[in-house]
Amino acid sequence: MSKLTTFKELKKIPCESSWFEPYRVAPGVTAIYEPHHFQEVISYLIEGETSALLLDSGMGLGNIKALVEFLTDKPVILVNSHSHFDHVGDDWRFPETHLLDLPDYVKKLESGDVFQPDAENRAPEALWFDGEPWFDLKTWHTKPCKVVPIEEGHVFDLGGRKLRVISTPGHTKDSIMLADDENKLLFTGDTIYPAPMYAYIEGPEMVPVYYSTVIKLAAQFADYTLFCSHNNPVWEGSALKEIEEAFGKVLAGEVRGEADPKTEGDNLFYSFGDFGIVLTKQAADLYGAKY
Ligand SMILES: [Fe+2]
Repeated sequence: MSKLTTFKELKKIPCESSWFEPYRVAPGVTAIYEPHHFQEVISYLIEGETSALLLDSGMGLGNIKALVEFLTDKPVILVNSHSHFDHVGDDWRFPETHLLDLPDYVKKLESGDVFQPDAENRAPEALWFDGEPWFDLKTWHTKPCKVVPIEEGHVFDLGGRKLRVISTPGHTKDSIMLADDENKLLFTGDTIYPAPMYAYIEGPEMVPVYYSTVIKLAAQFADYTLFCSHNNPVWEGSALKEIEEAFGKVLAGEVRGEADPKTEGDNLFYSFGDFGIVLTKQAADLYGAKY
């Protein structure tokens, strides 16, 4: 099984934030972890010689801009891995952000009208925080911001480090990854992470799209190091091959799904150790997955 590095094995960078925990995960790469909400979101600050790139702005419950200004003096380019609430929360604090050039998604992010937290995310138990919160989960909502569309293949040149945009539809249609090909690093967003991967969020038709993306990634990036956007930050790229195989088994009806305890409705969970795949029953019936 591919090696997964947890935060316990990493060195925390001392800072005064009561919401974020920054960790150095590679030279010039800081994982910015949000340990006080069950989503356990991770944003990444990736530094070159002349500028830095922040991949995602987190949940918007802490002030990530203040933390980033503490971590680097370089000018910061903000990019979103996709436009779900847990990754775009502090976009409004920055002059602009970047998102894959899908007009509907760009428009929604600009207006703040993106996929919002559900009841589970707003419940008091969602918060793993001992202090007095300075926010209200009940009224928490993404704010409008300025969005610059980017195309697949776009390269962010940070000086001595280049990050290439890869379109990776599956979790959502607007999902991207960033590849640092020289250092063999891949920033995976929510399309690949060591937890249940939701293959149904944008409809059953996304399941084969997700699988195609995984096949493409496994062929190109199995010798890279993966930096994921939830739960644990660092994963060996060979995990992509394991995920490809798992998807194949699910869609070939070779493994049986269980009722998913974590999501509402009639979803199915296929467990594979460090990760899982979640489908709706509708998608399972459409593509021959067993349960
Ligand atoms: Fe997410």
